[in-house]
Amino acid sequence: MVREQINLLSRRLSAVKSMDSKIYQRLEQRIGRDHLRKRVSRQVESAAKFYTKGGYASFHLENVELLPVILKLMLKLFLMYERGLENALDYRVEHVRVDIENLPPEFNGFRLLQLSDIHADGIADGGQKLISILEQIEADLCVLTGDFRFLTQDVYALALQRTETLVQAIDAPFGVYGILGNHDFIEFVPSLEQAGINMLLNEAVSIHKNGAEFWLAGIDDAHLYDCHDLSKALAPVPDNTSRILLSHTPETYAEASAAGVDYVLCGHTHGGQICLPGGIPLITNASCPRRFCVGPWHFNGMRGYTSRATGSSCLPVRFFCPPEVTIHELVCQA
Ligand SMILES: [Fe+2]
Repeated sequence: MVREQINLLSRRLSAVKSMDSKIYQRLEQRIGRDHLRKRVSRQVESAAKFYTKGGYASFHLENVELLPVILKLMLKLFLMYERGLENALDYRVEHVRVDIENLPPEFNGFRLLQLSDIHADGIADGGQKLISILEQIEADLCVLTGDFRFLTQDVYALALQRTETLVQAIDAPFGVYGILGNHDFIEFVPSLEQAGINMLLNEAVSIHKNGAEFWLAGIDDAHLYDCHDLSKALAPVPDNTSRILLSHTPETYAEASAAGVDYVLCGHTHGGQICLPGGIPLITNASCPRRFCVGPWHFNGMRGYTSRATGSSCLPVRFFCPPEVTIHELVCQA
């Protein structure tokens, strides 16, 4: 037990030591001192609460270290653990057609591939089945809506390595874009970008095709770190152009609607991950009405979609809530 604790501590320390101070300098130049300071200080606060059992406001598997252990034991006792592991690899490819206001005809039929909450280091088969599915998918652009790591704390190397392998399996000529979730630290943005993901940190980019454009914006995590800034993200977006937003959690639905977003893509809730028959979540880990927590939804004229997630967190098991890979087909409004 003592040896395990020492090994764990040395792994955590080596992850911290490997950080390069230049990473912070570059991030500060890019996102500003206020955003960086808030993100890093909240990461430290969150880690302190986690490791000192200081207590989180919300009761959830990812906030209490012992709960996954107890749940795993119970599932094994009732011979359900292996079934849960199989369910977590039973990927469904979901096709969603969505009307987008002001979408130029050049983008009619444009396909956005969404992977959310891949929690790459926790995939039971190492990602092999997911890779074989991704290799079959034809998309124009890919978005990764946060949560690359299995746990909210601890080392990141395997998550990065597997994320890079997954990205290599994606064919998306208009690029791969991503945002941070509550399982991700901002220090890993450079590594994620080296893996081929264009990270959006309260930023937006214009997607061009044959002289037409729509805008894709992405915000930092709003659930745990409260570092999202929609005004900043949407500042460069001209009026009367289509705005698609990546937000890790659907908890931003009201802010996004007020900011004139046309379509918001979310994850975070995992659709409950462990559900009652009929896909009824036991816990969503989100402070918003349940109608925003899974699948397509709308609010005040804005459309949204919350993925059931591609991966699983805390325990690599699922019940009555299969993992998904989502293809959003954009349609011009008639
Ligand atoms: Fe997640």
